[in-house]
Amino acid sequence: MLVNAKEMINAARDGKYAIGHFNINNLEWTKSILLTAQETATPVILGVSEGAGKYMTGFKTVADMTKAMIDGLGITVPVALHLDHGSYDGCLKCIEAGFSSIMFDGSHYPIEENIEKTKDLVKRVADNGMSLEAEVGAIGGEEDGIVSDGECADPEECAKIAELGVDFLAAGIGNIHGKYPANWKGLSFDTLAAIKEKIGDMPLVLHGGTGIPEDQVKKAISLGVAKINVNTECQLAFAEATRKYIEAGKDQEGKGYDPRKLLNPGAEAIKEIVKEKMELFGSLGKA
Ligand code: G3H
Ligand code: ZN
Repeated sequence: MLVNAKEMINAARDGKYAIGHFNINNLEWTKSILLTAQETATPVILGVSEGAGKYMTGFKTVADMTKAMIDGLGITVPVALHLDHGSYDGCLKCIEAGFSSIMFDGSHYPIEENIEKTKDLVKRVADNGMSLEAEVGAIGGEEDGIVSDGECADPEECAKIAELGVDFLAAGIGNIHGKYPANWKGLSFDTLAAIKEKIGDMPLVLHGGTGIPEDQVKKAISLGVAKINVNTECQLAFAEATRKYIEAGKDQEGKGYDPRKLLNPGAEAIKEIVKEKMELFGSLGKA
């Protein structure tokens, strides 16, 4: 059942667990995540980056495919279709395409401009029964081989964005996208606690969920994180399972080259990661 992400995330905040947001790239990704959610009775968020949206030939294709798949697979657990790190234009396109949730990543704008654009989107999202995530403090990561530490958001700026009426807030607390380098300093729980104090009940979102040690994930949830984004870990698992299949020569046995067979080990590997994360986040079985 396609829903916005508000209710599931508010329930997670109240129950001290977090909803898993898993990025999708194609039909296999979407199907694996939906089936895992249904099989385990777990609410889930499907994240779509602007790049993945383009790859899948546009947000309308993604929305139509996801809705048809929810229907075709008989998915009854709550599923939100969410734009991930959206530009302002991307947000407008996803509202139009029939997404149920969007993230406006205005973290690179001066705070005044971030506020102005977020305000506008709060109204549009409310008019369409959707949910809205905003971001303060850029999430670091690897870009062109240069690894930067995650930025820590300013709690005052978080409060300014939170009070505009967004539904949940992504705030940088030293988290980064992609694999964490060996010398990563870990999440800044002092920053997280200071932000929480300023924003009250507003649920927080933790990006860069790949490879964060379990104890840090649990501590972040205990301090108010109610949505955790995972992308790279599914990609790594998919690539590894596919590589193994090919290296074992399975693609040359029988009709092992048939894409439906070739892509299956990767799809199964995604299911395993998704279930593992749902368990770690405490959302397993919460539908
Ligand atoms: O928005 C997407 C996420 O923050 C995923 O981060 O690729 O490090 O798991 P990740
Ligand atoms: Zn992210």
